[in-house]
Amino acid sequence: MNIMEISNRTASFSYAIRDVLAVANEVEAQGHEIIKLNIGDPIKYGFKTPKILTDPLSYAEKENYNFYANSQGILEFREAIAEYEKRKHNVDVSAADVVVTAGVSEGIQMTFMAFTNPGDRVLIPGIHYPSYSGNATIFENDIQYYKTVVDGNFYPDPDHIRSLMNEKTKLVFLNTPNNPTGSVYPEKILKEIVDIAGEYDACIVSDETYDLLMLEDGLKHTATANLAKDVPVIAYNGFSKVFLAPGWRLGYAYIHDPAEKIQGPWEGFNKLTRLRLSASTPLQKAGTEALKQDLNTYLPQTIKALKDRRDLMYIRLVEMEGISVYKPEAAFYIFPMLSMDQFKWKDDKEFVFDYLRQKHVLTVFGSGFGPFGKNGFRMVYLPSLEEIDSAMDKLEDLLNENRI
Ligand SMILES: Cc1ncc(COP(=O)(O)O)c(C=O)c1O
Repeated sequence: MNIMEISNRTASFSYAIRDVLAVANEVEAQGHEIIKLNIGDPIKYGFKTPKILTDPLSYAEKENYNFYANSQGILEFREAIAEYEKRKHNVDVSAADVVVTAGVSEGIQMTFMAFTNPGDRVLIPGIHYPSYSGNATIFENDIQYYKTVVDGNFYPDPDHIRSLMNEKTKLVFLNTPNNPTGSVYPEKILKEIVDIAGEYDACIVSDETYDLLMLEDGLKHTATANLAKDVPVIAYNGFSKVFLAPGWRLGYAYIHDPAEKIQGPWEGFNKLTRLRLSASTPLQKAGTEALKQDLNTYLPQTIKALKDRRDLMYIRLVEMEGISVYKPEAAFYIFPMLSMDQFKWKDDKEFVFDYLRQKHVLTVFGSGFGPFGKNGFRMVYLPSLEEIDSAMDKLEDLLNENRI
């Protein structure tokens, strides 16, 4: 007999990316092979973690890097991270302002814990990576979603952001390059948002997980910290995407806080790291060595492979009636929108489950990424070109079979 209920906090949120898996498992159990376009894990699609990261791991273990690390992260790793951020984006950050986390995910969670109280306002992109809203729900924040379509792409709308700000606003989330849309926020828009946050004494949270996965020549990542002057920023990055090692669970957060406005919550963030003792020590050692190496040993080939896949999926989608789509500029996600009035489906969820049950292609419904994701869906373009082509054939058939 069940004697306990799930806690209110845990019952209060859902995580669409993994929720669709339950139905996929049913379809698989019936003997169907599924084309999976649902998860942002390059390894599941045959991409290989680069040797600059895997080679030093055996060295770390041989050298007995198996002890608990400092809770903040081993010093030489934090120094390597600070140098790496300086080298790639010219960010001035010291090792003291870096914390090593078990993936960016842990950094996101600790930010909510250390920076917010129930009722504090947080601004989140209307189409966003669901960890932000999931955590904000658990921590009982006043969540406000800002519009993310301006200038003919999925960019944040500074005017809407301004209209949502109040004196209880603690955090303004930015995610560029973006999951789930693949958009790269223009510097001008970022600057405007940073200035608005400054006016309201809010902190910018900048998730830069996909910073080096640019798919257009000449497109460069803007590290928000570089635009911020005395506006405080907490930024995240890690080894899951650019270093193709999601299973390592290795990431970091750093702060830009020249005016010392967020030293209190940052101390809280550090305190929280002690509660979980440390991030994995051998992986930190391997990460230290990897950050000193040349990423050109694998990154250009990775980007070329992503670009070919992006181009194919995008070209196929553009040809389909009833779908509108922006071309992703980075990362490995695309977010088409359906003109629902042309189809029999009542919403994006029904469409996604039909695509899965009838055509055996797994995607994620757009409303799982926030209220402005309604009528959209997310696909990853990590599978082979053949699989992408086949999934697009099936999509075309499904659309044609369901027109009103
Ligand atoms: C925007 C964004 N932030 C954070 C994460 C989580 O990354 P990690 O594996 O480092 O926890 C993801 C994973 O998909 C992501 O897309």
